[in-house]
Amino acid sequence: MDIKREINIGLLGFGTVASSFYHIFSEQKKELGSIFSIPINIKKIFTRGSGHPVPENIKKLTVKNAGDILEDGSIDIVIELIGGIQPAGDFIIKAVSNGKSIITANKALLAEHGEEIFKKCTEKKAHIGFEAAVGGGIPILRAIKNGLAGDKVKSVYSIINGTSNFILSKMTNEGGKFGDVLKKAQERGYAEADPSLDINGTDSAHKIAILGRLAFSTSLSMADIIIEGIENITQLDISFAKELGYTVKLLGILKNEDSKIEARVHPTLIPSSSLLSKIDGVFNAFLVNAKFAGPLSITGYGAGGNPTASAVMGDVIEIVSRLVNGDIHQDFIISKIKNKLNVKSKKEIISRYYLRFSAIDRPGVLSKISGILGENFISISSMIQKGRKVEGSVPIVITTHEANEEELLKSVRECDGLDVISAKTTVLRIEDNIS
Ligand SMILES: NC(=O)c1ccc[n+]([C@@H]2O[C@H](COP(=O)([O-])OP(=O)(O)OC[C@H]3O[C@@H](n4cnc5c(N)ncnc54)[C@H](OP(=O)(O)O)[C@@H]3O)[C@@H](O)[C@H]2O)c1
Repeated sequence: MDIKREINIGLLGFGTVASSFYHIFSEQKKELGSIFSIPINIKKIFTRGSGHPVPENIKKLTVKNAGDILEDGSIDIVIELIGGIQPAGDFIIKAVSNGKSIITANKALLAEHGEEIFKKCTEKKAHIGFEAAVGGGIPILRAIKNGLAGDKVKSVYSIINGTSNFILSKMTNEGGKFGDVLKKAQERGYAEADPSLDINGTDSAHKIAILGRLAFSTSLSMADIIIEGIENITQLDISFAKELGYTVKLLGILKNEDSKIEARVHPTLIPSSSLLSKIDGVFNAFLVNAKFAGPLSITGYGAGGNPTASAVMGDVIEIVSRLVNGDIHQDFIISKIKNKLNVKSKKEIISRYYLRFSAIDRPGVLSKISGILGENFISISSMIQKGRKVEGSVPIVITTHEANEEELLKSVRECDGLDVISAKTTVLRIEDNIS
């Protein structure tokens, strides 16, 4: 066994997360060294030097060429905190090929190219840590990977995008239109200048792809996930949901029933009494249901320099411990990701639905809508029709009993073809059993 006399880390990038990581690491470096009885150092930092300033006292560690880290035989762990698909992806593959362990917070890269990266790590017996890629400072992957390693995850309901949750909470608690609230979120730094990946559900789906792989030990691609964003949620829907006893949240949902998986991200009506409905602002939360452990919940900051860097630190300690102890075995769960379980398509989803029709105020509209729903075996659970006109139309809200999504969408398309329906009908899913 190769006895380590020191562990050296190479840092790729020096932005929000990397600079926080540097500070947290520096604070704990001495203690870590004494726990593991060997020095643990950040040896080199790769930065383009174009954006985030590097403090004067660590400029001596910076290199302008990533190869200076990737090809350095004395570096044991490479921490990729650049983000994006390339060059981050090539850097990781190169580092693993050169026998290094990897830590990354890069959800987009792992969601899109995780298969290739895990395969390379398995081939080279490299350790990989990516706790920071899902839920920022919340140790959800470790909880599933280690804590529930001997259990069977049945479902995960999650709020995993702080920007969307901030917008929906503001709309729910203070009113306001989607566009105005988004502008406020941008002014306060809770939303990027280009927030599209956050609000259209892609960022949540990246995290669901990673989480689903671990939770169900299966490969899960972005194409397997049903993705809908919050762009079309109106104050009207938020108010009607409230009236019905629900709160609208952008949820990431994973379910495993009889080895058939559901993986979806969409705005969802959840009971206003449920735990997840109380998670407001930029907070993230996970509700995991395991076969033997039962329901577990965890909440916290899903982003930000320090929380995310704290997750990176956790990975550093785990990998250092493996390297120091000469553990050449792949992570137990990662090595199990070999199967491909069947993923349910939209056609196979069974759910309750919230439908908001925009109808021209004329007698007989309701019977036309309910007639079409009935012909398609969609049974109505409740109905709200108010005289309030919105842009010349009257909203009619119907909630359904459990229905097949394909049949539901077919009937909504038929309704939208009626001459009394003036705009595309809003369709949202309802999840009742999440408390
Ligand atoms: N920020 C969060 O709250 C958060 C939370 C969870 C996960 N993450 C993930 O953590 C990673 C880092 O995020 P961050 O917020 O720290 O990003 P950031 O502040 O934008 O920093 C990115 C760093 O990478 C460098 N970089 C970017 N593109 C590069 C390229 N093509 N070649 C070389 N260097 C490049 C940047 O250099 P310049 O300064 O020269 O531009 C900067 O040093 C991402 O994968 C992100 O998804 C972030």
